[in-house]
Amino acid sequence: MGKILAVNGSPRREGNTAHMLGTVLNLCAAAGHETEMVQIGGLPTRDCVACGGCGQHPGRCAIDDWMNALYAKMAAADAILLGSPTYFADLTPELKAVIDRTGSVSRRDGNRFSRKIGAGVCAVRRAGSIHALDSINHFFLINDMIVPGSGYWAMSLAREAGEYEKDAEGAATMTRLGENIVWILEKLSSIS
Ligand SMILES: Cc1cc2nc3c(=O)[nH]c(=O)nc-3n(C[C@H](O)[C@H](O)[C@H](O)COP(=O)(O)O)c2cc1C
Repeated sequence: MGKILAVNGSPRREGNTAHMLGTVLNLCAAAGHETEMVQIGGLPTRDCVACGGCGQHPGRCAIDDWMNALYAKMAAADAILLGSPTYFADLTPELKAVIDRTGSVSRRDGNRFSRKIGAGVCAVRRAGSIHALDSINHFFLINDMIVPGSGYWAMSLAREAGEYEKDAEGAATMTRLGENIVWILEKLSSIS
């Protein structure tokens, strides 16, 4: 069975992004997969400082904070979900730091994310989520990952925490995303 890791880039632990990720994880868990959600939104966060330390010590970021533990979880996962609310038509800075730092480490660590499944989800009040999703998908694609579809772009129109639950189309999109992740994991396990 596969391991599915969700990273919540919203500072709201019980906000829309967390619940969107939760829908996907619940589906994966119901299909027998191991799931985990890691809260990173709101954590004190350091950006990539382009020191090159990850090239000298493969598998580790030279900045010794929570990012290395997260990288180890990402490296061990079969599927990585990255979730963010839309902030000024982009990601939260915490999630952008995850992308820059773990992406740099992975690429100098034998492309550790290669052929893992990668899916992004974004909560949005009204506009800008496509750009935020694009930022996440650029990360997956340069890392040689497999990006599943979801019937609609993986977003929910929601502002206050709890509004995702009123967005039937958003919930259906998250359900389809979960189903597709389960489908891919089952196909891959049947041929390996
Ligand atoms: C700093 C900030 C910037 C935001 N920028 C946008 C935006 O560009 N477009 C938009 O539609 N909503 C914007 N929002 C609204 C959030 O995307 C929306 O409330 C979302 O549901 C929050 O997700 P969460 O509950 O997971 O934190 C912004 C909210 C904040 C706090």
